[in-house]
Amino acid sequence: MLTDPAEIKIIQGAKQKNVRDPQRSRAHFESILSDFFQGVRLNGHYLDLGPGQYDFGELARLHGGTSMGVDFDPAVLELGRYKGFETLELNLKALPQAHFDQTFDGVWNKFALNAYWTGYNEDAQKEMANAINNLVVKEGWAWIAPWNGVPKSSDLNEGQLSEILEMQKTAFEDLGFQSTLLTVDQAKKYGVNGTVGNNIIFTKNLKPALSG
Ligand SMILES: C[S@@+](CC[C@H](N)C(=O)[O-])C[C@H]1O[C@@H](n2cnc3c(N)ncnc32)[C@H](O)[C@@H]1O
Repeated sequence: MLTDPAEIKIIQGAKQKNVRDPQRSRAHFESILSDFFQGVRLNGHYLDLGPGQYDFGELARLHGGTSMGVDFDPAVLELGRYKGFETLELNLKALPQAHFDQTFDGVWNKFALNAYWTGYNEDAQKEMANAINNLVVKEGWAWIAPWNGVPKSSDLNEGQLSEILEMQKTAFEDLGFQSTLLTVDQAKKYGVNGTVGNNIIFTKNLKPALSG
């Protein structure tokens, strides 16, 4: 939730309607931390892919951590700079080709990665999962909750759409990530509900303890 008038003004220019809403609750983020991050100290340096209103970064700050936001939306980037976060302009579709001169103690992605971006392409799924994995230090964590909504322009059939989700899952699992399929109630609790092909979360070096 944003209360600073200057922040509210900046985020009014965001591309996505839900990101523009200053009343957006941070409760989902607190539920995620309590159900996925038990025993994890958030005092490191983290990467937030698609930071929206920087709720993860703000919570990490409370624990002494720092966070860098990566986004393609100028308003989201401006909000990050105003709030004092490091930011990087990048279309996440090009993450596998991007060069980062640092690695991170954790990578967070809440609803800003889409299995269908790469079409029916197993190698591209692996490249995306690899790129994310390579950004995390060996003992670091990853919390990846894709927004697997089917693009309006898609001409893939039902079978192919399901196979793409399976390719994404296999790509992360082959790198040692754990997959957790959420129930509808859990997806609502974590703020990742909506019209999506699946509600899956990929985690690394975390011990999910979900309820509901
Ligand atoms: C649904 S919002 C989620 C925001 C935040 N993670 C949250 O949960 O509140 C998606 C975020 O990802 C960004 N985003 C979406 N597609 C992107 C892309 N292709 N490249 C970079 N950023 C993208 C949006 O600008 C927005 O900040």
